[in-house]
Amino acid sequence: MLSVLFTYFHPIDRAAIFTHIKTASEQVGIVGDKNVASVAERLKAELDSPGLVLSEPGEMAAYTTDWTHKFSGVTPAVLRPRDTAEVARSVLACRKLGLALVPQGGNTGLVGGSVPRAGEVVLSLSRLNAIESFDPASATVQVQAGVVLQALHEDLVARGCVFPVDLGARGSCQIGGMIATNAGGIKVLRYGHMREQVLGLEVVLADGTVLGSLNSLKKNNTGLDLKHTFIGSEGMLGIITRAVLQVRPAPQAVQTALLALDTRERLPELLTMLRERLRGLSSLEIITRESIALYQEVEPGTREPFDKAYPACVIVEEETGAGTSERDGFLERLSSVIESGLAADAVVAESDAQAQGIWRLRDGVTEAIGRAGLTHKFDVTVPPGALPEFLAEMERFGDEAGGLRTLLFGHLGDGNVHVNMMQKPELSEDEFYAKGPALAERIYSHVAALKGSISAEHGIGIAKRDYLHHSRTVEEINLMRGMKQLLDPGGILNPGVLFENA
Ligand code: FAD
Ligand code: MLT
Ligand code: ZN
Repeated sequence: MLSVLFTYFHPIDRAAIFTHIKTASEQVGIVGDKNVASVAERLKAELDSPGLVLSEPGEMAAYTTDWTHKFSGVTPAVLRPRDTAEVARSVLACRKLGLALVPQGGNTGLVGGSVPRAGEVVLSLSRLNAIESFDPASATVQVQAGVVLQALHEDLVARGCVFPVDLGARGSCQIGGMIATNAGGIKVLRYGHMREQVLGLEVVLADGTVLGSLNSLKKNNTGLDLKHTFIGSEGMLGIITRAVLQVRPAPQAVQTALLALDTRERLPELLTMLRERLRGLSSLEIITRESIALYQEVEPGTREPFDKAYPACVIVEEETGAGTSERDGFLERLSSVIESGLAADAVVAESDAQAQGIWRLRDGVTEAIGRAGLTHKFDVTVPPGALPEFLAEMERFGDEAGGLRTLLFGHLGDGNVHVNMMQKPELSEDEFYAKGPALAERIYSHVAALKGSISAEHGIGIAKRDYLHHSRTVEEINLMRGMKQLLDPGGILNPGVLFENA
């Protein structure tokens, strides 16, 4: 039965974000043997430029707590350079004063890598926010690192193009941060991660060198491809200041549907059939029952998408040609999925607004979790065939840990499950934090046994560095340490990210 979707969600109201700030006393405001005030003054003396050095606690607060509210710290100053030259000068000033620094984009990272831990200076790329050039012939765009994803999306619409990486943080995350974390999102299935979109980079190194390789050629096979060293390096090898990205022609039409599953046991078959039948498949997202329930609690006006509460829903999106025959083809392909018994029902968006209503369910889950409470977040990849058992195991792990609500959702098409275990009211904050390490060890060793990955897309940051061995060999980690030593021998770039004592 294909029923037409009526918009049943309303936009998220972003007020009343749950705030958990560790007491500042846990994070000493002393940088080495210097006190905070004199550090800021010395930076201002070194970097005499209007608006470059922030030092008032009120104006720095937004830069020192991360989006999850689980990571926070104090900093002597926030640097806001306006161009690459000021980024380089800022790095040299920090080196001179013996200060470490944390590069920061939109501060939407989820592994604690974007905020200070022990008094590092925050270097914000937000003022490098120009979309500098667009080349239709090579289908490339050159941007500064601080360009917000949504701004890039909007700029490309008028050019008949799209940037094929998209994620729920689009209103805040910046291109530089997305490259530094090799962000994934909802279209990896068809277009890959950020890594696959980057052609060239400009990077400021730990010694202030500006490494300019703003290549825009599709083919440039001249020695080591250095950009790949910095993509996914999470701010600990260099500071990305510009990028050349490849863009794609906008699809002629995008068909969006929400499927209802009456069991999760046949997910691998569903994945196989959708990939075979929908040749333009561009997104495949799963939202399980508990995640939908939480969203409805946080957004009480939200209606159940179907006539009953199914164990899981799946968003399917296919890029097709324009016209009714293409749309009819999509409906036929969906009907065959229902006739096969792999889906119990489907709602198909009749308009962009209704497609956005479906996506609001998916984006809303993450935002709702961010608002509803403290959460242990595990962003893992498992082989698609293992998904049904894995989801059940995660719910068992959460139950056995006690006091946690297990919320499962994610990028089904990539085998990327977001396992969010949220503090229940009866669990104190200390008990919640105390459960983290054992839970992480249990989940990540289970993922490793399935030959999965402990980080699908968010990176390692601070949150996962103690578990890196579950996904990388000793030899690989040693080589990574060697690269860190080569590129940042003084250890001033985001110390503590990826390695405890880099
Ligand atoms: P920040 O959080 O500011 O920084 C992230 C890391 O990159 C830090 O280690 C920082 O030091 C480093 N960094 C930042 N800018 C630079 C730079 N210019 N040069 C060098 N290092 C830099 N992630 C996904 O992959 N897929 C998703 O689907 C997804 N959905 C999300 C949904 C929500 C609601 C939220 C809040 C987050 C989501 N994320 C997702 C996580 C986050 O948005 C991504 O990791 C994003 O790439 C971070 O970009 P940012 O600009 O906010 O970086
Ligand atoms: C998402 O896909 O919503 C993000 O990766 C965020 C999360 O894991 O919470
Ligand atoms: Zn994600």
